[in-house]
Amino acid sequence: MRPEDQKLFPPVDVTLRDGKRGILRLLRQSDATILGDFYVSLPPIAARYYWPHPLTRENGENWAAQQADNPCCVTLVLETPQGEIGGYAWYRWQNEAAPNSVFGICIREDYQSCGAGRILMEHLLKVAETVGPALMQLTCQHANFRAVQLYQKLGFRITKEGMVGARREFAAEPQYWMERRCR
Ligand SMILES: CC(C)(COP(=O)(O)OP(=O)(O)OC[C@H]1O[C@@H](n2cnc3c(N)ncnc32)[C@H](O)[C@@H]1OP(=O)(O)O)[C@@H](O)C(=O)NCCC(=O)NCCS
Repeated sequence: MRPEDQKLFPPVDVTLRDGKRGILRLLRQSDATILGDFYVSLPPIAARYYWPHPLTRENGENWAAQQADNPCCVTLVLETPQGEIGGYAWYRWQNEAAPNSVFGICIREDYQSCGAGRILMEHLLKVAETVGPALMQLTCQHANFRAVQLYQKLGFRITKEGMVGARREFAAEPQYWMERRCR
């Protein structure tokens, strides 16, 4: 996100359903090391549902370095009290004239199912009311029932169904295309 727009969205303290605390804030370039740590802490199964790129330390570090101030990307992180990344969500788009953005989210295993995904998305969707294209799109496998429920509860609708091809050890499987207007 453009540095001047970042000032519009200051960090927010949050408490999750199980009492865990955290700070929701925009990604910074200086998060490279902790985002790299987050990527390598993810279990192999995470890559079945979340694969913007291989989840290597280098790709985590590069995401922080390259996307934090990218005017065509917004990344929100949940920082734990230990200063680690508990999860992140982002949307990005091709250029200023792009009609839609593409969304992604990944929560660390010990932060899942306690409202972290919902709270990150709710805040990100607030940002999307003013920053980026008016339409947000995503894909999600049928088997990822938690994600499908979360997206539908937050107003995404299914626009298409099809298959995602086999990736590494994961077989081809059915997926939804979903979208939501942001404003
Ligand atoms: C999918 C994911 C983003 C959901 O985030 P989360 O923090 O685990 O989910 P939340 O606790 O915010 O719950 C969101 C919804 O999921 C459902 N859900 C959550 N935990 C659940 C559980 N244990 N059983 C059944 N449903 C559950 C509920 O419908 C919940 O809605 P609510 O907020 O009204 O209760 C997260 O689990 C994740 O990152 N998974 C791995 C990567 C991934 O799948 N990314 C998405 C790719 S499309």
